[in-house]
Amino acid sequence: MNIGIIGIGSFLPDNRVTNIDLEKQMDTSDEWIRTRTGIEARHLAEEDVTVADMATKAAQRALQSAGVSIDEIDAIICATATAPAFPATACLVQANLGAKRAVAFDVSAACSGFIFAMDTAKSLMQSKGYNRALVIGAEKMGSLIDWDDRSTAVLFGDGAGAVVLGEDPIASIDSILLGSDGTGGKHLYESEDGKIVMNGREVFKFAVRKMPEIVLESLKIAGKSLDDLDVLVPHQANRRIIDAAMERLDLEEDKVVVTIQDHANTSAASIPLALAEAVRSGRVQEGQTIVIAGFGAGLTWGASCLTWNNATITEEINT
Ligand code: UT7
Repeated sequence: MNIGIIGIGSFLPDNRVTNIDLEKQMDTSDEWIRTRTGIEARHLAEEDVTVADMATKAAQRALQSAGVSIDEIDAIICATATAPAFPATACLVQANLGAKRAVAFDVSAACSGFIFAMDTAKSLMQSKGYNRALVIGAEKMGSLIDWDDRSTAVLFGDGAGAVVLGEDPIASIDSILLGSDGTGGKHLYESEDGKIVMNGREVFKFAVRKMPEIVLESLKIAGKSLDDLDVLVPHQANRRIIDAAMERLDLEEDKVVVTIQDHANTSAASIPLALAEAVRSGRVQEGQTIVIAGFGAGLTWGASCLTWNNATITEEINT
């Protein structure tokens, strides 16, 4: 089975909060945030907007882009770290969209979650003979922000991205690698009162080492090399982490998709949001080799090598 992406969609909440807005709220500065992270603004959902609301909107757009009806969906898998543990956000999306025959559940692998969910969906399609799966990364990071902790409060944003997987894809999945190291769990976790706690420097060091490693490994598993790489879509956690990966891999700037300036870190939504943006802006072209790669709490990491078969895919974003 040649399984891959047949549609993509994304959603960002309307409420855009700039660094200048945050300067008025806490002891920080636009200059510090931009130079240390590359972030200029983030979208933060209003209080009454849920992770499932954002996931549903992204999923609708992905279905539209794939030209697939909800009745054709066999599985819905949502990666999220910010939704209530139950019912699964995927089940809420199922109810919202009326996906009667789909099996629906969430996966939890923080910022790497989308790639874990994509691999799970692909495996289910192969083992159970499912034809179409909806894979979503959706987060309301704002709900976990401790507004008294400037070292984390400025870093995150909300949003959702989704893809439909099916046969005869627009983007074939040539490899997926996943990994975890639970001994690093202490560096990034949710506190008992439900707030993000992070040892930024440790996560930074891990990310700078891991990102180039998994890009190379995902290419190797796909039978390709760095010379074949046309576009890298990295997890958007910090511009400096992306720059370090570019330097280690000797990649030109035009090969790397960067959305952190507008999205900040949206955890599991970060990669599908960036991929959707790359599609929308025409960055991905027929015949190209694309690598998506992420890392996050757990610690976890994942990367996937895709071949873009044709550029006719459309992406419905914030219409
Ligand atoms: O999605 C995966 C998870 N997350 C990540 O990948 C994040 C990885 N880590 C990072 O991106 C960086 O470590 C941070 C952006 C979190 C922090 O950057 P840093 O260069 O490591 O800064 P730092 O934590 O060493 O702090 C430097 C200074 C400190 O002041 P002193 O002690 O030098 O006086 C902080 O108190 O910057 C101060 N600081 C701030 N100043 C203004 C920390 N946060 C802020 C802030 N505004 N928001």
